[in-house]
Amino acid sequence: MPGRFYVTTPIYYVNDAPHLGHAYSTITADALARWHRLVGDEVRFLTGTDEHGLKIQRVADERGITPIEQADWASARFGEAWALLDVEPDDFLRTSEPRHHAATQALLQKVYDAGHIYSATYSGWYCVSCEAYYTPDDLLADPAGGEVGLCPIHERPVEQLTEENWFFRLSAFTERLEAWLTSDPSPVRPAGKRNEALGVVRGGLQDISITRRSLTWGVPVPWDAAQVFYVWFDALINYATSIGYGTDPEQFDRWWPHVHHIIGKDIIRFHCVYWPAMLMAAGEDPPHQLDVHGFLLVGGAKMSKTAANKVAPVQLVGGDPEHDFPALGVDGLRHHFLHDQRFGPDGDLSVEGMVVRYNTDLANNLGNLLARVSTVVAKQCNGTGPAPRPDSPLAAIAAEVVVATSAAWSAVAPSEALDATWRLLRETNSLLEEAEPWKVDPGPDVDGVLGDALEVLRIVAILASPALTRAPTEIWRRIGLTGDPAACRVPDDVAWGGYPGGLPVEKGTPLFPRLKVPD
Ligand code: MSP
Repeated sequence: MPGRFYVTTPIYYVNDAPHLGHAYSTITADALARWHRLVGDEVRFLTGTDEHGLKIQRVADERGITPIEQADWASARFGEAWALLDVEPDDFLRTSEPRHHAATQALLQKVYDAGHIYSATYSGWYCVSCEAYYTPDDLLADPAGGEVGLCPIHERPVEQLTEENWFFRLSAFTERLEAWLTSDPSPVRPAGKRNEALGVVRGGLQDISITRRSLTWGVPVPWDAAQVFYVWFDALINYATSIGYGTDPEQFDRWWPHVHHIIGKDIIRFHCVYWPAMLMAAGEDPPHQLDVHGFLLVGGAKMSKTAANKVAPVQLVGGDPEHDFPALGVDGLRHHFLHDQRFGPDGDLSVEGMVVRYNTDLANNLGNLLARVSTVVAKQCNGTGPAPRPDSPLAAIAAEVVVATSAAWSAVAPSEALDATWRLLRETNSLLEEAEPWKVDPGPDVDGVLGDALEVLRIVAILASPALTRAPTEIWRRIGLTGDPAACRVPDDVAWGGYPGGLPVEKGTPLFPRLKVPD
């Protein structure tokens, strides 16, 4: 049954240009959006930039520019990176936009009118990089012996902030949050991450400060012109702004709460505790699903803007000889992220691993299959592709692969989905090696095997299209089909027997030239 699928990434801070960690969340969301389009769902994919707050104000001050100039510059870099990676959101939201100010004010005014916001003085330890307060227990001891503890994420000293501002009565939502987090099926996946959020709730929730007096770079508080909202409390609302909160109730009701938030494990507390509580306080349902992934690590450390290990997507798409990075191309990078980095646990980035994956899956299993088949079709069948056999041994495998691929994408397990799809390629290559059609005289046996392999290429072009945005269209063209594999529908168009035969098959250059494994 087609459904509705609203998928979001976190919105990214504009203190610097994007790195591979941001690309990972975004490519995953883009691939999920593409998969859901393929199964006929109505899809909406949102990403954007988080532009307010002290961190951005400080970066702009250091550079001698205004915060909006900084935001314009960085937001454009994110837009360019997503275009480079064939990431195609339906909406790219910037929190500095008037529509977002309006939605934030409308939602928080509602929370205020409902009596869940009050004024008080707060003093606490603040990490500017996280834009978050920490309790003394959260902090790491400074190995250099400094008296001030370190932020557990950035390992930098926190700052003492004291302010009189507006507080959200988070503690009043403890029971409802606990009930929501323990509901079945769990709104937070994987289970370990749900338990982490539950731990925060069960550990005792403190009310939280949601405004800042010391800052002007933010969304003004509608009932107190001297303050702006704390950046996280405007940022989270982006998910509601995009679908018309406060301005287009019909559109909002169409998409909310059918949302799937893709988030990194660093922002669980905000998304799995604060955000649902704010929604409850505003009289809305909490989000339908949150899928939490781990970090991309470089030599065991989180890739981040503040660490020296950040790599830009362009360095791996086009290659970077200075750092010995290969040119993986858009498909190569997307495939690596989706297949090698399992969604959930942390994963180490290794250039060698990327090249091995590219050579095995793309150059060998997929590229070589196309090259072999088109060469033999040229030689034995005068360049005209034969039809597949209805009783092919690959037909049953293809049916199993469609089921397994679909189940894995539905469970937000791209790595398993691609594994399932690639099984069909591996089985087809084995069949070809056994039958050796290149050694047999032209005739029905050769035609049958080649027709089966062409049918597999057609099916895989469709099934792999959420991950690979380039090769499927090229495969499609080379085996004589018109149209676009991404415009097909699963399961109808991946049923065995769709390749009609009698089409011209083109012998082209290697789809994925092999890469050299770094020494
Ligand atoms: N602006 C906030 C999010 C607000 S959402 C309402 C923020 N931005 S961020 O730019 O610092 O990071 C956002 C997300 O980028 C992380 O949650 C994570 O999804 C992704 N990643 C950033 N670095 C990453 C890695 N090294 N590895 C994997 N993902 C990472 O937090």
